[in-house]
Amino acid sequence: MKKLLFILGISLAIYACSNSSDDEIKPVNGNAEYEAAETYFNNTLKPIVDAKCVSCHTGYHSKSNSSNYGTLSNAINRASGMYNQVNAGNMPKGGDKLPQEDIDKFKAFLDLVNKIP
Ligand code: HEC
Repeated sequence: MKKLLFILGISLAIYACSNSSDDEIKPVNGNAEYEAAETYFNNTLKPIVDAKCVSCHTGYHSKSNSSNYGTLSNAINRASGMYNQVNAGNMPKGGDKLPQEDIDKFKAFLDLVNKIP
């Protein structure tokens, strides 16, 4: 019985890992503008979001995880909301306003997202 439970546990672990596709969202459009936004997000914006936003925005006040902005699709959907919030100094909630160079990165990402057809 113990052996069976062990095998079941391993199987579940493997299944869970093979399904964690959040980080590897493929371009929905496959166009150059989308890829430019994706590259900018991965290389420049995501490190800021991961460090300053994700702790609260991962399934915390949003059960659906739609506000986990460390995920490209969510970040694209809410690019303007994110920029407005950091530019207004509302986010990170309860923390210091981000330095202007970081706010500029949210703006640059928004501009790239707006170019996606
Ligand atoms: C300390 C926790 C915390 C941190 C850190 C944080 N947020 Fe939030 N955020 C919240 C809460 C809670 C709300 C819900 C509205 C409210 O209470 O103001 C929210 C709301 C928002 C909203 C409005 C829409 C939504 O998703 O609910 C945006 C956009 C947003 N945050 C972006 C950000 C960004 C970008 C960062 C990082 C720069 C960030 N937040 C960091 C807690 C946080």
